[in-house]
Amino acid sequence: DYENKVVVLKSKIKSFPDFPKKGILFWDIFSAISDGNICKLLQSLLVDCIRTKFPDVEAVVGLESRGFLFSFSLASELGISCLSVRKKGKLPGDVISYEYDLEYGSDTLEIQKDKIRPGLKCLLVDDLIATGGSITAATKLLQTCGAKVLGCLVIIELKSLKGRENIPEVFRYIG
Ligand code: PRP
Ligand code: MG
Repeated sequence: DYENKVVVLKSKIKSFPDFPKKGILFWDIFSAISDGNICKLLQSLLVDCIRTKFPDVEAVVGLESRGFLFSFSLASELGISCLSVRKKGKLPGDVISYEYDLEYGSDTLEIQKDKIRPGLKCLLVDDLIATGGSITAATKLLQTCGAKVLGCLVIIELKSLKGRENIPEVFRYIG
């Protein structure tokens, strides 16, 4: 059942203190998905969530790079569009950009213009929400293009960082 699956999943995600910097606890999704049974379990959790909470979604939007681990397989199982938000300079053709502040400096996310139409119902997917900076910026980027962001789906939320404040609806399993 659901609770059991989440317990198993959590037990398989290793966390590494002080990576990549001192003071940061790094939750390593790769440690979980190196096990094929966990891939299946995770896929079934994510698909169930989308079918029940976001049944109208038309596009799953993965955030570079760990979000890509999930966007393709979800889009493929649900038969909906797989879109990608990438860091600056990686996508060819006309792109829409959104610049946002980091603790030091700034970063820019981009999406290909021709992939988005006004009103497109999107769901963002990523492995984890920490400060929420990435998902908030991706949400704004999609909204700038006229897309409708139904919410976002992540596996882990670092709740103490309160990253979900500007995001329509966040669904997570661990945190
Ligand atoms: C990590 C993680 C999320 C983001 C969360 O990605 O995969 O995308 O940080 O942090 P935030 O909520 O504070 O924005 P990272 O930028 O390290 O890149 P990666 O996915 O390519 O490893
Ligand atoms: Mg990431």
